[in-house]
Amino acid sequence: MSETYSPDTLKVIRTRSVLRNYAREPVPGDVVGEMLETMISAPSASNKQAWSFVVVQKPESVRLLRAFSPGIIGTPALIVVACVDRSRTDRLPGNVSQKIYQTSKLCVGMAVENLLLSAHVLGLGGCPVSSFRETQVCALLGIPDHIEPLLVVPIGYPAQAPTPSDRRDMNEVISHEIWGHGPVA
Ligand SMILES: Cc1cc2nc3c(=O)[nH]c(=O)nc-3n(C[C@H](O)[C@H](O)[C@H](O)COP(=O)(O)O)c2cc1C
Repeated sequence: MSETYSPDTLKVIRTRSVLRNYAREPVPGDVVGEMLETMISAPSASNKQAWSFVVVQKPESVRLLRAFSPGIIGTPALIVVACVDRSRTDRLPGNVSQKIYQTSKLCVGMAVENLLLSAHVLGLGGCPVSSFRETQVCALLGIPDHIEPLLVVPIGYPAQAPTPSDRRDMNEVISHEIWGHGPVA
């Protein structure tokens, strides 16, 4: 068993739920820093790290960003705008460039999952949100053309504990050895 193994770590991963109801409490700078460091430790295709993030904490900016993001429910302490950086994928030959661009979107998703898990470990919560007005968000935050926002992620302390969502049955979504086959006896 690896030295980093701890049953608590698995519990953290399994008990994460999206948070949509935030307390008014601000998040200290060092706590924000921990989450951001964990976020960018995510894996990335060819280690291109073709991502870019905007952290929005000023209350007026959070308010405006929320106004352009119908998917954000509640008023979070901060919002991380998670983007793909096309300047790091564009300079490659045609097909490779398109492929790395597509996989870089997955990498941004992985970074956001790290952000959400670290928030959960630190007693906060958040929600990945894809429902936002891209043009308005880019204009508000001065995001240039080569940076494409994929998710806005509200983060804050919980006003109340979130309700866990149901999961599909393991046997319905996981096959063993051959697609559609159950576990080998
Ligand atoms: C790519 C993506 C986009 C999402 N967009 C929204 C959104 O716009 N608004 C929202 O309230 N939740 C959004 N969610 C959160 C999902 O609704 C939530 O993850 C799902 O209901 C399962 O709940 P759980 O994460 O607590 O298990 C999104 C999740 C993902 C992965």
